[in-house]
Amino acid sequence: MKLFRIPMRGSVLWAILTQLLLCRNGVFAGNGTKACKLGTESSSQRKVLERLEPLAHRNLSVEVTEEKEKYTYVFQLCGDAGGVPNAGVIQKKIDSKDKPTIIGSYTSTEVIGGSDWVMLLYHNGDKYDSHCNQEERKAMIMISCNKNTEAGNFEVILEDRDRLKDCFYLFELDSSAVCPPVQSQLSAGSIILIIGFCFVAVYLIGGFLYQRLIVGAKGMEQFPNYAFWVEVGNLSADGCDFVCRSKNREEAPAYRGVSADALDEEPEERDDHLLPM
Ligand SMILES: *[C@@H]1O[C@H](CO)[C@@H](O)[C@H](O)[C@H]1NC(C)=O
Ligand SMILES: *[C@@H]1O[C@H](CO)[C@@H](O)[C@H](O)[C@H]1NC(C)=O
Repeated sequence: MKLFRIPMRGSVLWAILTQLLLCRNGVFAGNGTKACKLGTESSSQRKVLERLEPLAHRNLSVEVTEEKEKYTYVFQLCGDAGGVPNAGVIQKKIDSKDKPTIIGSYTSTEVIGGSDWVMLLYHNGDKYDSHCNQEERKAMIMISCNKNTEAGNFEVILEDRDRLKDCFYLFELDSSAVCPPVQSQLSAGSIILIIGFCFVAVYLIGGFLYQRLIVGAKGMEQFPNYAFWVEVGNLSADGCDFVCRSKNREEAPAYRGVSADALDEEPEERDDHLLPM
């Protein structure tokens, strides 16, 4: 039975340890943003992209009415939006067989990140027909922190095309992915405390069950290693007594012994003792 109990405590400990490690480092280390090609590759931009990982592999879409025409915009992070190869954002006319217009491509990405927001730019869209000097379309997606949603509503803010160059489509999206990391991560000290607490709990419960069910102990005896802990308690009490207690109290009874009260009582007692004789 003893042999069985020890490995069980070990496995409980391991379960707790791995749980804590997983919580600390985050379980997500995928590569959902790898497909995005940066205009100029840089590790700082990659880092910002990695923050967006929870948004990967989703088509986010919105319907809008512009000049009596209905359109759908579809956005995907580093993946084919609406299934159109290389497109990060597409615009599709509803109820029409027209090919979707690519607003921006994830193969030409630029990304800027702040403490609680990320601005994603997709260049290399389809060329304008008449506006903007027929330059390529460009999508800007402003992703803001919202703790309550992993991927909120994808919204069209404006299409700025009445200028000669640098036209853009602006979109907005709320996501918890860009929120600053929560500072409540467990410190090493509290992990040790938790592990220690678990040890004590497992020891108490396991020992209690063992004493009660296997040994058949009753009452206080059910505590694991009861005799040992009683001995520890007594020894530490003795130690404390020896170290902390001042001598005054021990001497006190001696004075009381010779006090007036004690002297008065003694003869009476002696008398009582003699009476029955
Ligand atoms: C991550 O990338 C590696 C190679 O770069 C690939 O083998 C693996 O399947 C990818 N994982 C996911 C979850 O996409
Ligand atoms: C996105 O939408 C396209 C077209 O509807 C579909 O083929 C593709 O599987 C979707 N991707 C994801 C990740 O849902």
